[in-house]
This record gives sequence, structure tokens and C-alpha cells, in this order.
Amino acid sequence: MNMNKKVILITGGSSGIGKSIAAKAKEKGTEVIITGRNKEKLEKTAEELGIKSYNFDVSKEDEVLKFFEEFKSDYKTLDALINNAGYGYFDLLENIDSNKFLDVHSTNVFGAMLMARESAKIFINQMSGNIINISSTAGKKGFAYGTAYAATKFALKGMTECWQAELRKYNVRVMLVNPSEVQTEFSVNAGNGEREFNPTKLLSEDIAHAVISALEMEDRGFITELTVFATNPKEKK
Ligand SMILES: NC(=O)c1ccc[n+]([C@@H]2O[C@H](COP(=O)([O-])OP(=O)(O)OC[C@H]3O[C@@H](n4cnc5c(N)ncnc54)[C@H](OP(=O)(O)O)[C@@H]3O)[C@@H](O)[C@H]2O)c1
Repeated sequence: MNMNKKVILITGGSSGIGKSIAAKAKEKGTEVIITGRNKEKLEKTAEELGIKSYNFDVSKEDEVLKFFEEFKSDYKTLDALINNAGYGYFDLLENIDSNKFLDVHSTNVFGAMLMARESAKIFINQMSGNIINISSTAGKKGFAYGTAYAATKFALKGMTECWQAELRKYNVRVMLVNPSEVQTEFSVNAGNGEREFNPTKLLSEDIAHAVISALEMEDRGFITELTVFATNPKEKK
């Protein structure tokens, strides 16, 4: 897809990976729309990048439906949905808080499904579209403390495969991107504290590069799944 003048919608575009995808897409002449829950943070990013934003929570069905009504009256088409909004909740199995477990599923799984469902209606009607689900290497292999988060990202992989099977006949490309550790606010938001910058570890720009490259591939083909690791990460002593 040639990104110029295409309309792309990025959930959780106010920081980190989503913000970097938005910035790179804007450079390509794309009309970029970002979403997020924190209004102030969202508006600051939208202003900085010179793009449009909508403030809502992807895990709330009424808010998602209201957003799509507004979006459809503001835009004639949608060319790509980047299902990026998400966060981590990490604990040992014996300590898992039921509400936190369900909440992280509400955003990372239910929210992603709601956004894809409403986008798919547009894509089927126009017989074209792209969905990129931002999963994680946590969606490929489980690990200690990972029960809740890995479960959401394994679910995203399962949904990706179902949507690929359902939507290819409408020329819709559904792709999964699995970043390994990326230096964003993710760690702090997951309660793991601030980490010192490490130049050998991934940046959100690296994931944005992978996402834009996958979108830019000729429409006759698509990359089903793409995993990004740091080449030679070194732990600081
Ligand atoms: N950083 C990593 O190491 C890493 C590795 C693999 C995968 N990922 C995945 O990459 C994605 C982006 O994470 P990031 O690292 O860029 O973290 P981030 O900087 O914390 O960004 C997360 C974004 O998602 C939004 N968001 C979270 N819950 C939402 C909800 N319910 N409704 C709407 N927006 C919501 C946040 O906005 P608000 O603040 O307004 O809620 C923010 O814009 C996530 O899906 C994450 O699981 C991250």
C-alpha cells in the first residue's frame, strides 16, 4: 500500500510505539488519527505531530461505538487500523488479582476485538483494508510473572489468525507484530519502575519501521506475522 493520503487509525497513539508509528506515517503523507484515554497526554501528542485525535477507552463498547459514528462522519474511508492500545500486568500466579487480570483482558483482547470488528465492517464494505495487531514476544512464549499479559497476547495471536481466515476474501490484510522489550512508558505503567536508557535495546521507532514496512508492501501480498528482537542487547552492570 502506498501510504500517501491513506487514512490510518492508531489506538494508543499518545505515547511509545503508537506515537512513533503515527510520526513515521505522517512523514509518508498519511492522514493519521490517534486515540487514547488520557485526554491531556493525547492532545499534547496530537498537537506535537499535527494530527487528529479522539479520546476514548477501547475497552468500553459504548465509547467505541460512539467513536466510530463520529469517525464515519468525519472520514470517507479507513485504510488501516493499528490495534496498539495495551498495557502489562505482571505477577506470580498465586498473587494474581482477579480484577486486574480481567481489566488487562478488557483492553488488550476485548478492546482490540471491538476496534477490529467496527473497522472490519468498513473494510468489507469498501473491499480493502489492513489490520495490524501489536502483540508481543509474550504472545509466543510464556514466562514467570507473565500469566495475565501473555494470556492477552496469545489471545491476540489467535484472533489474528481467525480474522485472516475471515477477511482475506475482502482483500483485507491482517498482520501480527511481536515486539520484544521496547524502551517506552510500558514498564513504568506496568509497575516495574523506570529503567535506565540502554542503547542496545529496542526503541519504539524500530517497531514503527517494521509496521510501516509491512503496510507498504504491495497489496497483493502480506506478512502474516513479524517478530522484532534487539540484535545484541546488553544488560547494564
Ligand atoms: N514496550 C514494550 O516492551 C512492549 C513490548 C511488546 C509489546 N508491547 C505492546 O505495544 C503496545 C504499546 O505499548 P507501549 O510500549 O508503546 O506503551 P505505552 O507508551 O504505555 O503506550 C500505551 C498506549 O496505549 C494506550 N492505552 C492503554 N490502554 C488503553 C485503553 N483501554 N484505551 C485506549 N488507549 C489505551 C495508552 O494511552 P493512555 O495512557 O491514555 O491510556 C498509550 O497511548 C501495547 O499493546 C504493548 O502491549 C510493548
